[in-house]
Amino acid sequence: MPSQTSSRKEERACEECGAKFETAIWMRADGSELPPDRLCPACKRKERERQDIERYKQDLEDAKELQLEKWFDECGVPGIFIEKSFADFESELQPKAFDAVKGWMDTSLVLLSPGVYGVGKTHLVCALAEHLLRTKDKAVFRPTSYSIQRLQCPVTFTTESKLLARIRNTFNRGDDYEAETEAEVYKSLAKFPLLIIDDVGKVRPRDYSFLQGVYFNIIDDRYVNEQYIILTTNLDYTEIEEHIGGASADRLREMCGKNGFIKMTGKSYRRRSKQ
Ligand SMILES: Nc1ncnc2c1ncn2[C@@H]1O[C@H](COP(=O)(O)OP(=O)(O)O)[C@@H](O)[C@H]1O
Ligand SMILES: [Mg+2]
Ligand SMILES: [Zn+2]
Repeated sequence: MPSQTSSRKEERACEECGAKFETAIWMRADGSELPPDRLCPACKRKERERQDIERYKQDLEDAKELQLEKWFDECGVPGIFIEKSFADFESELQPKAFDAVKGWMDTSLVLLSPGVYGVGKTHLVCALAEHLLRTKDKAVFRPTSYSIQRLQCPVTFTTESKLLARIRNTFNRGDDYEAETEAEVYKSLAKFPLLIIDDVGKVRPRDYSFLQGVYFNIIDDRYVNEQYIILTTNLDYTEIEEHIGGASADRLREMCGKNGFIKMTGKSYRRRSKQ
């Protein structure tokens, strides 16, 4: 018989709580003894639980970091705007819009600057996206299943022209069954609690029925599911209605409430800074 498995019993005092406990002292093949347990069975269990929690905390931190990277990829904010934040926005130029977007909380908004460009609409909505990505919970520890759950990205950004192109693309799938369908586009947008559509009114189609159908699908879906939408546009109020269609405009008005349409005036920041 190998002597490795043989042992003797010894009574010891737990180094943690002082309780007496009996422990087995194991011997190596060469006859030397392995170090005895320092802790009683109860303290040993607690110690193991504490180590598990530490490990999970670290795993949770890692998961949050990975999730943030994934969210940045997923949120659709273009490269040059990903760095834009509320901190580098000169708020005194657009105090109303700045307060509304920075203080955004579960509501829909329309930022309109009829006829003027470069007043900071895209900057503000991208700053909001960035803020949400950084501050929202990215992963949680579920104690019941002892597992880490990664959470949904809170916001997605697109432009009217990108959105329409993405949907038009689904009509040319041909035999490519991997390519997304129209229904899948809507489903994937519906995952995000907040949808930002920049530059509403940029596309001037000859036939408005396709464009208005897209807006209706999206706005009606958000309306019934109490999800939020932020639109930016250079159109004025009546032009928005003509552009997206009456039924969508009606729902949008209700979703935004009476303070949700924010008019931005003033000079283009691009031109100002060149002076
Ligand atoms: N109030 C502001 N403070 C700092 N930068 C601004 C401000 N307004 C606009 N900008 C900058 O000017 C440029 C044009 O703004 P942008 O958000 O694209 O305008 P819009 O979408 O209304 O046409 C961007 O580089 C943006 O960061
Ligand atoms: Mg813009
Ligand atoms: Zn103990």
